[in-house]
Amino acid sequence: MEIRLMKPDDYEAAYALWSQTPGMNLKSLNNSYDGIKAIIDHNPTTCFVAEDAGQLVGTLLGGTDGRKGYFYHMAIAEAHRGQHIGSQLVQAVLKGFKDQNIVKIGLFTTNDNPDGRAFWEHVGFKVRPDITYLDLDL
Ligand SMILES: CC(C)(COP(=O)(O)OP(=O)(O)OC[C@H]1O[C@@H](n2cnc3c(N)ncnc32)[C@H](O)[C@@H]1OP(=O)(O)O)[C@@H](O)C(=O)NCCC(=O)NCCS
Repeated sequence: MEIRLMKPDDYEAAYALWSQTPGMNLKSLNNSYDGIKAIIDHNPTTCFVAEDAGQLVGTLLGGTDGRKGYFYHMAIAEAHRGQHIGSQLVQAVLKGFKDQNIVKIGLFTTNDNPDGRAFWEHVGFKVRPDITYLDLDL
């Protein structure tokens, strides 16, 4: 199993994984090839995949506005869960952020994904009950 930087060419395999993973909320953002290539191009050292025997089995994208880091698209193929692949991806992205002096990381989970939220709490994230998220489509 190898953790390596994501390339735009990984898109097809990554999208197939995300489509099979509940809780990915794929319709909320631009998850087309161009949308994912844009986040990789803007964040060339913080978007990672896990590969096993040439097969993409996990993803975690890290994006930053230069001040704060955000996690997107944490997904591990079902057959590969429970092997600390997710936590290795978390460590890889965190290292990429730390190298840019980014020390605060945020992420969003949907309310219908308590397992995902429990994972994030297990690896150290704290829920912010004081925040309501709003967005706007342009
Ligand atoms: C959540 C997910 C990414 C975990 O990946 P994984 O590779 O199985 O997790 P790891 O094996 O690295 O687990 C790391 C630690 O978290 C714990 N953990 C894993 N899933 C957990 C969960 N749902 N709730 C609580 N703890 C969890 C593990 O027991 C392990 O604990 P340890 O380090 O004390 O031994 C994976 O189950 C997944 O892809 N889920 C569907 C997508 C999703 O919900 N993504 C996150 C929300 S956006």
